[in-house]
Amino acid sequence: MMKTNISTITMGMLLAAGMSSCETKESNISVTHQGDTLTTIHITNPTKYLLLPIENNSDEMKVLLNTGSKADTYMDIRLAVSNPDYYVPFALPEGAKEATVVIRNTDPEAVCWDLISLSDSFDSSNRDKFRPLYHHTPLYGWMNDANGLIYKDGEYHLYFQYNPYGTKWGNMHWGHSVSKDLVTWEHLDPAIERDTMGHIFSGSSVVDHNNSAGFGKDAMIAFYTSASDENGQIQCMAYSEDNGRTFTKYENNPILTPFDGLKDFRDPKVFWYAPDQKWVMIVSADVEMRFYSSDNLKDWEYMSGFGKGYGAEFSQFECPEMVELAVDGNPDNKKWALIVNINPGCLFGGSATEYFIGDFDGTNFICDNEPEVVKWLDWGKDHYATVCFNNTGDRVIGVPWMNNWQYANYVPVEQFRSANALPRELFLFTDSKGEIMMGSKPVDELKTLRKEELNIGQINLNGEYIVEKLFDNNQGAFELEMEIDPSDSKTLGFEMLNEAGEKVVIYFDMPSQRVVMDRSQSGIIEFGEKSEPHFIETHEMRKTNSVNYINDFALGTWAPIEKGKKQKLQVFVDKCSVELFLNDGKIAMTNLVFPNSPYNKIRFFNDGKKPASVNATAYKLSE
Ligand code: FRU
Repeated sequence: MMKTNISTITMGMLLAAGMSSCETKESNISVTHQGDTLTTIHITNPTKYLLLPIENNSDEMKVLLNTGSKADTYMDIRLAVSNPDYYVPFALPEGAKEATVVIRNTDPEAVCWDLISLSDSFDSSNRDKFRPLYHHTPLYGWMNDANGLIYKDGEYHLYFQYNPYGTKWGNMHWGHSVSKDLVTWEHLDPAIERDTMGHIFSGSSVVDHNNSAGFGKDAMIAFYTSASDENGQIQCMAYSEDNGRTFTKYENNPILTPFDGLKDFRDPKVFWYAPDQKWVMIVSADVEMRFYSSDNLKDWEYMSGFGKGYGAEFSQFECPEMVELAVDGNPDNKKWALIVNINPGCLFGGSATEYFIGDFDGTNFICDNEPEVVKWLDWGKDHYATVCFNNTGDRVIGVPWMNNWQYANYVPVEQFRSANALPRELFLFTDSKGEIMMGSKPVDELKTLRKEELNIGQINLNGEYIVEKLFDNNQGAFELEMEIDPSDSKTLGFEMLNEAGEKVVIYFDMPSQRVVMDRSQSGIIEFGEKSEPHFIETHEMRKTNSVNYINDFALGTWAPIEKGKKQKLQVFVDKCSVELFLNDGKIAMTNLVFPNSPYNKIRFFNDGKKPASVNATAYKLSE
């Protein structure tokens, strides 16, 4: 039987600033439930936003602003059923006399109907104690991969997979932030919104210097995957006429569909291939990357595929990136690096970034190595979906998403999830075995963050040495620089601790020739749904590991080091992350941590037969 139930909330709203109190205009919300699955909210004199109460563990309801247009799109929103966790703003049409919001999969008994309210503002000031101070985060809502990274007219554009309606994955939009220096970011409105064709999945953007597409010389053009159950994963384009603030979707989308009906076919990376004067698109296609070419950015022709059986096995390829770099800084010896983000398959479980070094002849990528060779760009557990800025000349700057699909939806933050790792300059170098490897070092611009210096100095380390306090009023944002000689030690390293004894341990384990970052006692280490430590069962390497693994989050990650070498370390700590760069970025290791208070003490330790040399400096990176 149909149940109709109407409740009306009347609100006296003071409209725009400048109105006197007698000029109030009444805004009303009336909520009507029709049956058990459909709710309509009718609003007269809409304010800027409808504030929606969200409960992270509720099921998604389908919410649509009904303007009568074909473009009206349902958003999946976890409206609060019993206890709201937080609110998100849902934009209402500006200047309209009324607005209607339709909600499906509804629950008439849910508390959200009494809590929904109208407002002209939304308070996005920070509420999360783990929000980083100098890493990019969305103001609120969910974020995963960086998208469409591009430098144009003095601005770095960082688009990102974004859900504005909650802090779990969903409703993929391209969120947008810009920076002039890669250090401070300005939040802008989402640039591309989920539409009736599907979610706006990951992709890239280019500056069309020659007007190949006909949208104008130097137009910024974005390429993304439209993803939905009905249409599958198809590649689309959109162009911007206002320097990347807003985009118009191309009327003849999609521009590319899989020739074999592949389900996983996404994340187009487009770049200009100068030798052949053509555009190249790389699309991740299940367990390979497919290469296409085009003259006009609209019509794409298949050229080749690469990757089947290469690298860490059984993993979904995602978010391709391909860059040409000088080897050992020699501009006459360049190689191509194909960056492949894989999930699962990470050395430590879940998602990670690997890369292949080789040549690209305009049609095929030819890998230098045998298929079984695996090269990791980062040896932590929270480094994924790394892609690079387009249009930066010889500088190649990558931006990873600092999380892991194993637990990304559950990390203990509420207002935002999650952060990008530091922007990193990518480079190629030859290691001691003659292998070409890719390194990543934090961009130099980050040095401008240094506020205060603590010179720990030269230590002849025998046993332990403690620095009781790093900084007064340490907000959990600091940097360490060190030179360590572990050659005569068995275990040599340091712990960063807070007053409760929570700690991150970074050490050289000389018998196994590894540098280790152990976060198993780093603070909050259990959250979300625990999964099996699948890596133990499936990968041989794990069995020989000397580090004690506990579960998906509470673990140590490690990287191989070269024998008998003085080691140079750079460590960045920012509220909930520790990023280690060894020897100017030849090894990088990125891990999340959730200490209940900032680490502000350091204990160095050495169990070698002889004292070891350590030279250290700390920098405070916040006021
Ligand atoms: C990688 C990824 C991409 C996809 C996006 C969806 O993290 O799975 O392959 O486009 O996330 O949000």
